[in-house]
Amino acid sequence: MSKSNHSNNLIRHYKKDAEIYDINRRFFLFGRNRLIKTIGEYLKPTSILEIGCGTGVNLVKLNHMYPNSKITGLDLSKDMLKVATIKLDKFKNVSLINDIFDQNTYLTKFDLILCSYTVSTVPNVSVFLSTVYQHLADHGHFACVDFYSSGNAAFKRWISHSIPIHTNFPEHLLKDFFTFKHFEVKRAYGGVWKYFNYIGQKQ
Ligand SMILES: C[S@@+](CC[C@H](N)C(=O)[O-])C[C@H]1O[C@@H](n2cnc3c(N)ncnc32)[C@H](O)[C@@H]1O
Repeated sequence: MSKSNHSNNLIRHYKKDAEIYDINRRFFLFGRNRLIKTIGEYLKPTSILEIGCGTGVNLVKLNHMYPNSKITGLDLSKDMLKVATIKLDKFKNVSLINDIFDQNTYLTKFDLILCSYTVSTVPNVSVFLSTVYQHLADHGHFACVDFYSSGNAAFKRWISHSIPIHTNFPEHLLKDFFTFKHFEVKRAYGGVWKYFNYIGQKQ
């Protein structure tokens, strides 16, 4: 893994956060359960990749839903993956990779790629989505939950106090790569920010 300043910052940030991540993210990373439930209603993937799987919360749920699928979680933070390993060690169909996902990534292709609050941390969303596209099987699906928009300056300052987080998602870029299958936007804390659930299919 060749490390840019950006990925080194992420690694440092999540090193401090890994132990408390599962407790405090419940209060602001909304929509994750809802997206997994929606995926279950729409799709029957045999191979799944979560990019930026963190502590593995989504992988546990995906494994319950798809016990016979091959599930891969990839994350650049070994501290986050250490927490994920405790949850996932017993599941033989789940594997974890400690690496950065970027334009130099070459993995096999997947039926479903999930990003849960990962896209908001990447420096170049267009390049990232193009690499996601390359890793999808024909007619494969991309599912994403993330911040959608916020006009609240105090929230934007707080969320980016340690690493830069995009709070306004460049939705138009999704249309360059995927056909929309499911899209919903919800308000958090009365509209301090909005978040979205999205499922698209490779064009
Ligand atoms: C906000 S956390 C989300 C974790 C998990 N998906 C969840 O919903 O709880 C973002 C994760 O993405 C990882 N990450 C960010 N950019 C990445 C990249 N380019 N390649 C691999 N992991 C990345 C970070 O290390 C971090 O664990």
